[in-house]
Amino acid sequence: MKKNRGINMKTILITGGAGFIGSHVVRRFVKKYPDYKIVNLDNLTYAGNLANLRDIEREPNYEFVKADITAGELMKVLFNEYRFEGVIHLAAESHVDRSISNPMEFIHTNILGTVNLLNAARLTWEDPEGKLFYHISTDEVYGSLGDTGFFYETTAYDPRSPYSASKASSDHLVRAYHHTYKLPVVISNCSNNYGPYQFPEKLIPLTIHNIKNNKLIPVYGKGENIRDWLFVEDHAAAIDLIFHDAAIGETYNIGGHNEWKNIDLIRLLCKIMDKKLNRPAGTSENLISFVKDRAGHDLRYAINSEKIQKKLGWKPSLRFEDGLEKTVDWYLANESWMANVTSGDYQKYYENQYTKR
Ligand code: NAD
Ligand code: TYD
Repeated sequence: MKKNRGINMKTILITGGAGFIGSHVVRRFVKKYPDYKIVNLDNLTYAGNLANLRDIEREPNYEFVKADITAGELMKVLFNEYRFEGVIHLAAESHVDRSISNPMEFIHTNILGTVNLLNAARLTWEDPEGKLFYHISTDEVYGSLGDTGFFYETTAYDPRSPYSASKASSDHLVRAYHHTYKLPVVISNCSNNYGPYQFPEKLIPLTIHNIKNNKLIPVYGKGENIRDWLFVEDHAAAIDLIFHDAAIGETYNIGGHNEWKNIDLIRLLCKIMDKKLNRPAGTSENLISFVKDRAGHDLRYAINSEKIQKKLGWKPSLRFEDGLEKTVDWYLANESWMANVTSGDYQKYYENQYTKR
């Protein structure tokens, strides 16, 4: 889609750019491509935070638009006005636990919101040449693995939470618009991300936050569920490559080849935190608390990312231990960011909600 496809890219829409992954993608594109205009569209839910982009918000090639992707007519107006040539769609409700307590919000944002963007792109892109609608998705659409095996691009979809079902649905719609209307699309499905600016509802920042504040670390079930973790900047690098070099209509899996049982990951984080906070070894582990399991908790996710590695030359750059330490350092150095996102009704929502096993 870019220069190496012979196209002079101009205005790119990034949705959800004020969120965790989106802010890393926006930052990368604004800094690396000064000749692109990057429009960050986000309606700033609890997970969206303009403080994630303070360092680049005054760059001349960056613009923020506060808008809700569920407003279909508004999306058409904005596509008409800005004449976006590329879309990187990240805006979504993203937390599985919230999808269990409030599925409708996920259906509304993740499915309807995506269709609104597809419609706006289809209506504006009379000539689809040189355009690209890039949908960012998750490995959770493939369901859950047993002790062995991996998710491939060809693995049948088998989503099992309202979150993953809403993302699977949006993936299907993106593909349907490609087949039916010839909309130029690409999709990537990535494993669990971690790193700076992640809202402390997800496992890693929640654990760091709780240890720092001497609060219990809630481990769902026995802590034996397995996730494949990838540093967020490695995901942003993959998104950059796919946006520019992917073949239209293709799907790419992105993963860290880095599987961890939750309890082992939490114990590693405890060790790093004890060291960083100068606390006696074992202090943080005392905070571990086994709580009632998540409903329908997927056992294991593991990605085979050979396709993007072979076809586009991507690979993760960081060792997990180094990425985790970098992440811990960032959270400890950015206490005011954490204080800000945990003010308001955070405590009501995330604390005291666990039942001990
Ligand atoms: P996030 O929750 O941190 O950010 C989501 C962003 O979308 C927020 O800025 C929020 O304000 C915005 N948003 C939500 N509803 C909106 C609406 N109706 N209109 C406009 N903006 C809206 O999420 P994240 O972890 O950065 O994930 C980004 C994308 O990547 C999601 O599509 C998610 O499914 C996907 N993904 C996430 C992971 C992960 O580990 N976090 C892994 C694979 C894929
Ligand atoms: P999470 O970060 O919510 O990501 P996802 O559910 O999308 O994989 O959770 C990662 C794993 O950690 C998952 O197996 C659920 C578990 N978990 C806990 O044990 N305790 C927690 O407090 C949270 C948030 C998650």
